[in-house]
Amino acid sequence: MRAVRRVYSLRDLLVSFVAGVVGHLQSHGHHLQYDTFGAPYAGSTQVHDWPPTKPTNRDPALFPSNVGHAGVTPTGAEPALIATAPMYPTQTSAPGLLAPPTLHAGQRPSKDFDLLKKWGNLSPWYSVRQGAFGIDSSPEAPESCRVTGLHFVHRHGARYPTSWASYGGPSLLAGRLHKTATNWTAKGELEFLNDWTYKLGEEVLTPFGRQQLFDLGVSMRLKYGFLLENFTNTLPVYRTESQDRMLYSALNFAAGFFGIPYEDKYLQSITIEDTGFNNTLAPYKTCTNANNATKGDRGTPFVRDWAGTYLRDARDRLQSNFGGIELSIEDVYTMQQMCAYETVAIGFSAFCSLFTEAEWEGFDYAMDVYFWYSSGFGSPVARALGIGWIQELVARLTHTPIETHNSSTNATLDDNPTTFPLSDPLYVDATHEVVVLNIITALNLTSFAEEGPLPTTHIPSKRTYKVSQLAPFGTNMQFQLLSCEGRPEDQIRIVINDAVAPLTGIEGCEADGHGMCPVPTFIAAQKKIVAKTDWNYVCEGKWDVPAGHEWSTTTGDPPGVEW
Ligand SMILES: *[C@@H]1O[C@H](CO)[C@@H](O)[C@H](O)[C@H]1NC(C)=O
Ligand SMILES: *[C@@H]1O[C@H](CO)[C@@H](O)[C@H](O)[C@H]1NC(C)=O
Ligand SMILES: *[C@@H]1O[C@H](CO)[C@@H](O)[C@H](O)[C@H]1NC(C)=O
Ligand SMILES: *[C@@H]1O[C@H](CO)[C@@H](O)[C@H](O)[C@H]1NC(C)=O
Ligand SMILES: *[C@@H]1O[C@H](CO)[C@@H](O)[C@H](O)[C@H]1NC(C)=O
Ligand SMILES: *[C@@H]1O[C@H](CO)[C@@H](O)[C@H](O)[C@H]1NC(C)=O
Ligand SMILES: *[C@@H]1O[C@H](CO)[C@@H](O)[C@H](O)[C@H]1NC(C)=O
Repeated sequence: MRAVRRVYSLRDLLVSFVAGVVGHLQSHGHHLQYDTFGAPYAGSTQVHDWPPTKPTNRDPALFPSNVGHAGVTPTGAEPALIATAPMYPTQTSAPGLLAPPTLHAGQRPSKDFDLLKKWGNLSPWYSVRQGAFGIDSSPEAPESCRVTGLHFVHRHGARYPTSWASYGGPSLLAGRLHKTATNWTAKGELEFLNDWTYKLGEEVLTPFGRQQLFDLGVSMRLKYGFLLENFTNTLPVYRTESQDRMLYSALNFAAGFFGIPYEDKYLQSITIEDTGFNNTLAPYKTCTNANNATKGDRGTPFVRDWAGTYLRDARDRLQSNFGGIELSIEDVYTMQQMCAYETVAIGFSAFCSLFTEAEWEGFDYAMDVYFWYSSGFGSPVARALGIGWIQELVARLTHTPIETHNSSTNATLDDNPTTFPLSDPLYVDATHEVVVLNIITALNLTSFAEEGPLPTTHIPSKRTYKVSQLAPFGTNMQFQLLSCEGRPEDQIRIVINDAVAPLTGIEGCEADGHGMCPVPTFIAAQKKIVAKTDWNYVCEGKWDVPAGHEWSTTTGDPPGVEW
């Protein structure tokens, strides 16, 4: 039944579900299920099995890919916005996506409320306001400085939900609604559920996610294209991982940065992201304690606590429109996730207008709480997970190979100057949001840790650790190298989603209006951090931490490590 395009509502599907025709198929290590119509689904109640496997019009001879006659093809000079423009172009919207015009009870969002920025790591990236991180300076080169190099790190674009969720998980809720559809009745604001189908896949990029990376590639070429001029007899090496969304994020970035065809313009290193493979861009794959729920992923109980507070009213309200099914706080939290995921996957979600502005602020903060304790300054493994990439950064900045492979670094790749060049003016690394947050922790960007262990009883008034600003879909960090008149040493500064971050948590880096620090000072501090971070102890050691607020770190270190 591959041609089926009908929409099956929950109630239609119930019939097939009760008939029990459910098969199993192993694919990429996940359990996918077949629905009765023969298509595999990831909990989706509606699947389009596209493209057709045997299209009758596929005749390559009639569709040659190169017919010549391209016309004239001269190229011009490389753009250099970062050096030449008096201002900096910002990313202000998510083209193609819709936020609903009204929230709960027909409430119109207030003027400065942007729903798409209230989803933590599920928000599309946008330019953070100048000064938001404490440095009132724009990313373009300060006067009398010129940019001599860039180390760029970015996350993948918007994706479907991951196959695994420690709290929430849209496909689980969809599956339950689907299975129990004869038993419940939805009315009022929930009435749409009677015809709703779950359309999301798992893990891979959405169309909007592809666009994000293409656009990011274009914008980086406009800003930093001039750095390519210094590659006179080698090509730039960009790195990503083997995981589907990582690989295709990198290729979409390349399509934006270099244009199609990009194959002859750079070299794409695809590192293996899998259990047991050393990989600084997926370090959790070789760190035992990072995969232990009570140590490496300790954020979940904190989120559960906070959700119990900010979603209590929403749960009661939604329950009153939902007969025959018992809604938990987690279900209601999942409906908020559903809003974010549906929007970035299919452009719009009816779930979004179930909630108030305050409940969306609560959701955004839930993400801060989760990542603070699981991947950031409140995680006992965060610094160690970030340290491999710091070792690589130091190697690149000092043009010297890594001394000892004693963390997540991979000697085979990093000790070979072809796969890991050390003297290039431009580096591009693609990774996950958790790794970006690990790197921020390992670098010692402690201005983001000022509010200390995040509370689960209320949203603190001062919030520097905002995941929607630090690790959204397409999040990116520019490590700029600058040469400035009047400053004898080369300078480095870090720009996160277009806002300059303070480096004052890094030993020796003094307060600076432009957020710059002398490169030698920065390197010395990072070497000290590398020397102090014991991957083997953090990842394989027999330490333990109690659950809850009884124990805390604000440096991303386990018990027994003091600064
Ligand atoms: C890049 O090349 C230009 C022109 O040759 C030179 O002036 C500049 O110093 C080089 N920059 C770097 C980072 O090597
Ligand atoms: C519907 O509810 C009844 C009574 O609680 C229960 O026995 C039955 O299993 C439920 N059916 C489904 C499909 O969940
Ligand atoms: C290092 O990376 C290479 C290339 O991806 C891989 O074959 C090798 O297994 C990795 N080494 C370790 C120790 O993970
Ligand atoms: C997690 O670590 C704790 C404490 O070291 C240990 O008791 C527990 O067995 C570990 N859990 C798993 C799943 O390995
Ligand atoms: C992989 O990482 C381990 C732990 O840090 C290290 O002992 C080993 O040498 C690394 N292997 C390679 C090939 O880099
Ligand atoms: C890193 O941060 C800690 C905690 O704020 C501080 O004590 C330490 O001096 C910093 N270390 C370096 C090398 O920057
Ligand atoms: C790991 O190697 C670095 C040199 O690259 C060294 O400074 C550090 O002390 C080593 N870590 C441990 C725990 O031995």
